Amino acid sequence: MNQSTTPLMTVEVLLKDIARQFYETDIAFSHGTDNAVDEAAYLIFGYLKLDHDSAETIYQRIVAKNDIKAIKSMAAKRIDSKLPIAYILNQAWFAGLEFFVDERVLIPRSPIAELIHNRFRPWINMDQDQRVLDLGTGSGCIAIAMAVYFTNASIDAVDFSPEALEVAAINVKQHSMENRVRLIKSDFFDVFCDAKDLYQYDLIVSNPPYVDKNDISIMPQEFHHEPIIGLASGDDGLDSVNIILRDAGDYLRENGVLIVEVGNSQWALQEKYPKLPFVWLDFEMGGNGVFLLTKEDLDNHNKL
Ligand SMILES: C[S@@+](CC[C@H](N)C(=O)[O-])C[C@H]1O[C@@H](n2cnc3c(N)ncnc32)[C@H](O)[C@@H]1O
Repeated sequence: MNQSTTPLMTVEVLLKDIARQFYETDIAFSHGTDNAVDEAAYLIFGYLKLDHDSAETIYQRIVAKNDIKAIKSMAAKRIDSKLPIAYILNQAWFAGLEFFVDERVLIPRSPIAELIHNRFRPWINMDQDQRVLDLGTGSGCIAIAMAVYFTNASIDAVDFSPEALEVAAINVKQHSMENRVRLIKSDFFDVFCDAKDLYQYDLIVSNPPYVDKNDISIMPQEFHHEPIIGLASGDDGLDSVNIILRDAGDYLRENGVLIVEVGNSQWALQEKYPKLPFVWLDFEMGGNGVFLLTKEDLDNHNKL
């Protein structure tokens, strides 16, 4: 539509229009929303940089014609290419913080955000000077959120993907965390193994790849825009967590804890390691499949 013929619209009318378009197509609501209205709000509020807390008053605001045109074209892109909104806007939210994202990194959505918000209570005292490792950092969202929430912690963030580390570096800079978050390229613990004493942590957190072969083959198109290195983890989804369970104990201090998200692979994991005393963490804001183990649990198990 020619810009001069674009009708005037309020945020509310535009929201209804875009939501209807999303509702009538076969897009999957998979990255932070579960319905057409929330998906439309994510696009409109994100693009116009509006505050969701003031939504009621914002609904009556008139949207500029060039913004309507841009939003409609982004909605068409969302529908036609199944590209998630986070990649269209280059914007995602995690633990209340904004992150730059593009197709080099997974879109942040881990329930680990809630654990950070709750300061990992009662498992570890994050008011002390803790040393923390984020394994498989992607956009850097977990590492950076921990740096923001835990002002005394020093944080290392590992990823094997150079492209992901480029995005993490953008976010580290954006949050002014260059002195708090150290980005490291490594295949899990590989670069640490010749200097174990230098890499000892009170807390290791990981949202590694954990999707099994079957789930990869049936996942909606939206997920295929995400880097496969961030999702796929062998036939049973356990390739990454097997390595983490084998090696993490070597890098945990006395009383240290390991927290790992494995999502749907929880059942395969429990079946494979029936003797490991996994503590499965509860979430009030949604999510599951996140376990906790202590260094002692890991050392005892690896001695067997
Ligand atoms: C599920 S994504 C999680 C990203 C981010 N932590 C988050 O929660 O959004 C898993 C991350 O692990 C990284 N990864 C995959 N294999 C790895 C390996 N062998 N060593 C280190 N990181 C790896 C991927 O590049 C990806 O960024």
